[in-house]
Amino acid sequence: MPDAERRPPPWNRVAENGGGCRRAAGLLLLCAAMACASATGPRGRGPGGDPAPSASVRSQGPDPHSYSNPARVRVRHVALEIDVRFGSRSLAGTAVLSFESRDSGPGPLLLDTRDLTILSAETAAGRGPFTPARFLLGPSDPILGAPLSIDLPSGATRARIRYETSPRASALQWLLPPQTAGKRHPFLFTQSQAIHARSWIPLQDSPGVRQTWSASVRVPAGLTALMSAARLDRGSDGAFRFEMTSPVPSYLIALAAGDLAFAALGPRAGVWSEPSVVSKAAWEFADTEAMIEAAEALFGPYRWERYELLVLPPSFPYGGMENPRLTFATPTLLAGDRSLVDVVAHELAHSWSGNLVTNATWSDFWLNEGFTTYCERRIVERVFGPKRSEMEWVLGRQTLEGLSLSLEPGDLMLRPEVAGRDPDAVLSEVAYEKGALLLLTIERAVGRERFDPFLRGWFDAHAFRSATTADFLSDLDQRLFAGARPPGLDLDSWLNSPAIPPEAAAVSSSAFADVDALRVAWLAGSRAAESLPAKTWSTLEWLRFLRNLPRDLPLAKSSELDRAFHLSEALNSEIAFQWLLLSIESGYPGTQARLDSFLTSIGRRKYLKPLYEALAKTPAGRERAVSLYRRARPGYHPIAVETVDRILSWKPSENESDR
Ligand code: BES
Ligand code: ZN
Repeated sequence: MPDAERRPPPWNRVAENGGGCRRAAGLLLLCAAMACASATGPRGRGPGGDPAPSASVRSQGPDPHSYSNPARVRVRHVALEIDVRFGSRSLAGTAVLSFESRDSGPGPLLLDTRDLTILSAETAAGRGPFTPARFLLGPSDPILGAPLSIDLPSGATRARIRYETSPRASALQWLLPPQTAGKRHPFLFTQSQAIHARSWIPLQDSPGVRQTWSASVRVPAGLTALMSAARLDRGSDGAFRFEMTSPVPSYLIALAAGDLAFAALGPRAGVWSEPSVVSKAAWEFADTEAMIEAAEALFGPYRWERYELLVLPPSFPYGGMENPRLTFATPTLLAGDRSLVDVVAHELAHSWSGNLVTNATWSDFWLNEGFTTYCERRIVERVFGPKRSEMEWVLGRQTLEGLSLSLEPGDLMLRPEVAGRDPDAVLSEVAYEKGALLLLTIERAVGRERFDPFLRGWFDAHAFRSATTADFLSDLDQRLFAGARPPGLDLDSWLNSPAIPPEAAAVSSSAFADVDALRVAWLAGSRAAESLPAKTWSTLEWLRFLRNLPRDLPLAKSSELDRAFHLSEALNSEIAFQWLLLSIESGYPGTQARLDSFLTSIGRRKYLKPLYEALAKTPAGRERAVSLYRRARPGYHPIAVETVDRILSWKPSENESDR
């Protein structure tokens, strides 16, 4: 390596202040990491390289999960060219980032990456030509990935980076044809939230940074590429082209490629999926357009023009992901009775809470999910009636009470401490349920005639911007309370105490009161087949019933229920999940085959986490979990793998050759 390459670049020498690698507040400063990185060479690691030991490299900006410093240099547009290579399970890409810098000397452009191979970096001023730039890829932190620092000559406004992703990129799942419904074509999809965009695009991976973007994507013949943006005509080279003209945070950039078909659901709405699934999906989601109309009446105009859904293969790790213009959804929503479309209401609501007004950092996550859960229930109330939304509120309240028993006090706060922790491990349903309950409590305190305009005003005032919890409090005080908070509303304890404050709005459902009475009677000896009106129960009523059965339900009672209602064969994924969970806890053996097929065919984290945790509680269960997981793991998305690895303390090297 030539000497010039080995010497720390000028910004490091200045920042080090002559002291070498110095510790500040217990953390190695970024400059120190950069100096270390130069030792690994400007190309960083190859695709198979092990991560360098963690140096707790820290960001210089306001977001503890990003190395970027947007106050100095802020990316405004990302232009991507991506080649999807199924053979090597990699994306070969070029990203051109356009940015603005502070006049006071821009410093380097600091980007987030994870497991990327950086092939080259160049910079340009305005529309001028690109010239090679010095760049350094720092050591990889297990949570944050590796900082990429690109030296900026004065006047530079664009950087062009050529890179390749690793086969183990945390956002990407590469499916072989047998893992798809059609069995004939491979499939690829991304999941960027919370901090996985950096594993397939080098960028400022912080929800506090918004950019417009465009992309040109090449896929093998016969496959269709979709992204969370407007579709343009295909390029002369056959590439699929996309454009997002509203500024969005990086976690909302999404890509899928596979054998895909489309069905319209209304003037603005439609659904994509593999061809064999599309008519079922179109039937299931037929109410989408009505939901958009309800949401607009409540929250203001829908600002993304089109709303489409993409139903993914069953390994998709979430129920839904609110990628703009193209919600990604699990096929487990296709229950055949439209009973699980509250997830669509939820992802649609994110078009306001999250995508329009975005949490500035992951500790403000409740601004995304608490608002969205509240808005979801308002949409459900309007489209399907209050009986259904009341049931959702009651189930949500019970979820929150359950979390109070299982989580650490710090993680029960609306604003948990996230710095130094993996967002995927910290973010929980507390943000959803406690956040939604806070908004319901405020709504009840001031009345909907005042709350609804406030909510709409929040979306309008912060549209296409990122917001913090402090912004919310100041908006509340200025625009809703006009300086006088309602007596009894202790906002400080909502935000900073693990408890559910006593003034929380009460929620109730008379339908659930009936279910509860029948459950009590059945436990006292009435016969299930005759006494439970299960044929008339909605999915939510079933969930209420199953979630409240004693965890040590006698085996004879389980068999009686199973005989009467064939729960072990339930097609509805939510009911099947609750039944499997109960059977693990109570030791009922009748679900063994179903648990096996459930865990080896579905990769939805919300199901995997509780099921593996319940199994891992006993030695025999753990053994079963390990043997199931050995078979299931190759079919899970990397995000789900990370979750279950943690639960089972799984060491890939000890357990299998590799994925
Ligand atoms: N945005 C979330 C999914 C998410 C959260 C992904 C955090 C990564 C990090 C999405 O809107 C969501 O909440 N999905 C839920 C469904 C919803 C109805 C509660 C899910 O996946 O189950
Ligand atoms: Zn959500």
